[in-house]
Amino acid sequence: MQFSKRMDRFGDEVFAALNERKIELERQGRKLYNLSIGTPDFVPSARVRQALADAAMDPENWKYALRDTPEMLQAVCDYYRRRFSVEITPDMIVSCYGSQEGIGHMGMVLCDEGDTVLLPGPCYPVFIAGAKMAGAEPWYYPMTRENGFLPNVSGIPEEVARRAKYMVVSLPSNPTGSVSTPEVYREIIEFAKKYDIVILHDNAYSDIIYDGLEGGSFLAYPGARDVGGEFFSLSKSFNLTGIRISFFIGRPDIAAAFRRLRGQIDFGMFLPAQRVAVAALSEPREQVIRQCADYQARRDALVDGLNAIGWPAEKNRGSMFVWVAIPPRYASSMDFCLQLIERAGVICTPGASFGPMGEGYVRFALVLPPQQIAQAVQAVRESGILEG
Ligand SMILES: Cc1ncc(COP(=O)(O)O)c(C=O)c1O
Repeated sequence: MQFSKRMDRFGDEVFAALNERKIELERQGRKLYNLSIGTPDFVPSARVRQALADAAMDPENWKYALRDTPEMLQAVCDYYRRRFSVEITPDMIVSCYGSQEGIGHMGMVLCDEGDTVLLPGPCYPVFIAGAKMAGAEPWYYPMTRENGFLPNVSGIPEEVARRAKYMVVSLPSNPTGSVSTPEVYREIIEFAKKYDIVILHDNAYSDIIYDGLEGGSFLAYPGARDVGGEFFSLSKSFNLTGIRISFFIGRPDIAAAFRRLRGQIDFGMFLPAQRVAVAALSEPREQVIRQCADYQARRDALVDGLNAIGWPAEKNRGSMFVWVAIPPRYASSMDFCLQLIERAGVICTPGASFGPMGEGYVRFALVLPPQQIAQAVQAVRESGILEG
């Protein structure tokens, strides 16, 4: 039996080696600092957890949901008005099981085999997987140090723009930690109109943004809702990664097509999860703001710490990730990560896992408190890895 040719589009799990090593070192009782995975160590509020417990006690809530409840759709509309000053309507909203799943399937809504899609290089891996599942060819627009880790649409060749079906934009960025400016979004909207390209903005980190900057919505920009929409995840703002709640919010025809595709394979989000969404979206903002300050303290502990031990790092302005160039003498980000875990017990993610333009960097996730991050930095220093 032969598996489908589609499966050949996905590489082997090259990072299994790193994971295996981690498991082995853990087994040996080695002290490890795991800064590799972007799962918040913060917890959802008691009110949100109670909402799930209450909803779970109602036997009616265990049936197929079959739809996004009017209550949840209204909660999303209210949140967008209150938080982002953006007016949206229920026909613009489709729930999905996390932005990961949503973006993974959206390529099939927008593309045919052989179409081109524009993706950030480096990018969150599901952007690539979603394009490949649809049979499309990714074309990576550089998000490199030279352009401030921001998209520059004027650098996309005309013939590429002409054949592109959609473009994924995601700011604040995973993995680079860069944040947008109004100018960047305006240029992207103009570009999308000129070449009839759908824009999918992945807005996972609107609440994790530093140094007094304010997170926002792509839909707040004039013309944005005519060219596409955004995925808005509850995972990071509300520490709800496990329950899988996100929404596509955007142009009604795209929302309708996405709903139609999802309708082929899905009977709707678990009703207690929909109640969790309502509870989270109506949370007072204090906790989210406090949490963001905690992330900033972690960022400062890491970036200041790395600079102090002679590993140059720049302060990211948003997201829960710090993107750092590997010391020059290492052959690859994977090679460096394997040595870092071995010699310092510090685990981070090789840049190569974020697509072809990620090589030469590693990504640290800010998922430990500042004191432990400081200890991790100390372990890096004592390992001597920076000296070779
Ligand atoms: C840019 C980006 N998009 C989406 C996700 C996943 O979000 P969700 O939990 O809603 O699938 C992540 C998670 O790390 C992310 O960094």
